[in-house]
Amino acid sequence: MAEIERALELTRLVLAESIPRRWAHSQGVGRKAEAVAHLVGDDASALVCAAWLHDVGYAPDLVVTGMHQLDGARYLRDVAGMDDLVCRLVAHHSCAFIEGRNRGLSDELAREFPPVEGLASHAITYADMTTTPDGEPVEVERRLAEILSRYGDGHLVAESIREASPLIIDSVRVIDAALAER
Ligand SMILES: [Fe+2]
Repeated sequence: MAEIERALELTRLVLAESIPRRWAHSQGVGRKAEAVAHLVGDDASALVCAAWLHDVGYAPDLVVTGMHQLDGARYLRDVAGMDDLVCRLVAHHSCAFIEGRNRGLSDELAREFPPVEGLASHAITYADMTTTPDGEPVEVERRLAEILSRYGDGHLVAESIREASPLIIDSVRVIDAALAER
């Protein structure tokens, strides 16, 4: 619980003033992760921490490569001293490996942050991709459409999300199914 409180306060510190809309989004993603955290057993705390923190790499002061998943994970590892699992979930949230490949950063991403297998990985993607930029719940298809229109055709982020869409939708289905079983 103390870890989650620390993650929340760090997210607030990094995002609330510099990019308030990302802070609003992060609050919604954190709440979504809390609602599904019971599905991931011992990884629950790491999942919720990573959900709060997943977009800190957008903060202007933290931008190094321009890939927010990698910049955020490096900051959390090197500066904030967050748990390994939290950093790996942030590094790979919402199918970041595709954007990493499109940016030529695949090797760094995979070497520094081994991908997380299983439900926790699906759960952070679910939380991010069923939450609007303002932090409200939304259907995954509408979320994906909003990202595509916001960045525009041909933008590296838009094209990466377009390619990742089937995997993102699959993660949402996996978590919805797990929730239905409980
Ligand atoms: Fe996000």
